[in-house]
Amino acid sequence: MHGFHYSGNQLKCEGVSVAALAKKFGTPLYVYSQRTLAGHFQKLDAALAPLDHLICFAMKANSNLAVMRSLARLGGGFDVVSEGELRRVVAAGGDPRKCVFAGVGKTGAEIEFALRKGIYCFNVESEPELARINKVAARLKKIAPVAVRVNPNVDAGTHAKITTGTYENKFGIAFEQVAGVYARASKLKNLRLRGLQMHIGSQLTAVQPFELAVKKVLPLVTKLAAKYKFEFFSIGGGLGIVYNPALASGPAAWWQTPAARGILTPALYAQRLVPLLRPLGLRILIEPGRFICGNAGLLVTRVEYVKRTGRKNFVIVDAAMNDLIRPAFYDSYHEIVPLKRRGGKTVSSDVVGPICESGDYFCKNRPLPKVGEGDHLALLSAGAYGSVMGSNYNSRPLAAEVLVNGRQSALVRARQPVEDIWANEKIPAWL
Ligand SMILES: Cc1ncc(COP(=O)(O)O)c(C=O)c1O
Repeated sequence: MHGFHYSGNQLKCEGVSVAALAKKFGTPLYVYSQRTLAGHFQKLDAALAPLDHLICFAMKANSNLAVMRSLARLGGGFDVVSEGELRRVVAAGGDPRKCVFAGVGKTGAEIEFALRKGIYCFNVESEPELARINKVAARLKKIAPVAVRVNPNVDAGTHAKITTGTYENKFGIAFEQVAGVYARASKLKNLRLRGLQMHIGSQLTAVQPFELAVKKVLPLVTKLAAKYKFEFFSIGGGLGIVYNPALASGPAAWWQTPAARGILTPALYAQRLVPLLRPLGLRILIEPGRFICGNAGLLVTRVEYVKRTGRKNFVIVDAAMNDLIRPAFYDSYHEIVPLKRRGGKTVSSDVVGPICESGDYFCKNRPLPKVGEGDHLALLSAGAYGSVMGSNYNSRPLAAEVLVNGRQSALVRARQPVEDIWANEKIPAWL
């Protein structure tokens, strides 16, 4: 059960009124439910219990320190993609020894930092990267744990901008080349071949692409594991969530869990994948991001103006594409609900931000309750790839973030002071 629900006509996050949070902390405001974060983590953890496993939260989805701390406390590791992210793990009290380091462009300095921190493994995306890791490790007199990211060339059937497992993508090493790459890597003295990794894409709402990819890679990983004494196989992240309840089967209530709708759930995921993976006898890693935090967060915004034109009803809000870029970038759907529910007719509306781009919208022609200046709306399912993708476009400060736990709430990121936006800029002497 997600931590957001109406109590009477008030939208609540767990035991806290979202309107009260908006009043106290202002808007735009991200609100996260700790119970939901933990619930999603624990469901996956329980589903994978028959396997020796480690959940490495893909912190690119949400790297707020408090969110990370709550997952680290449950035993989670992290999937990091930069030195900055690894530094955040340390700042959040996470364990670098439970971290995997992904990404196609790791610099020498990033590799050195990760080696010094003793991360669990580098997920390597090319042969030149293997050579670079070996060289840095030799200089530091260390042995670097590595896994090759195999690109299984399986179409995840997801949005083009978040599919990663086909040969059209920059990620990983082609399936057919992987055995040769391991053979050459085994000759590099400062590497330890610790496992194999794959990740086929994000927001997968069916289990079949996972099954297909695992089945395709299993013979390869079995052979390589025996030859190089692997410790683990990582099947990546990518579990999808419900954004649009109208597209899901079952009763159309946005707070219902995917399980209630017969969509991809941890139970179904485990039911199909555990029997395939168990005979391997390896530790299984997964790297979920969106599944854990996507539906654990919403973005609260205030209505500034309602502008009716001959054709349209524009609801102009104080959040914009710099706060939540997903609709502009991926054409994503976010359910939009009022903090104060009222009856009455709906109005076909475009909810738009104040940024000077036509792409700055959250929905188009959507039947929404009639709202007016000063009302508040919540954009649901904004906990993943929301705040982390925020920018200062139009010199707009980054939004504040709040974490709720039962009846408690805490500001976990203060609104960015506007002067911070240009704090590192300098005007040259000749001006
Ligand atoms: C290597 C890797 N692992 C895990 C993830 C997390 O994906 P998701 O948030 O869909 O679970 C990503 C996302 O792009 C990724 O690139």
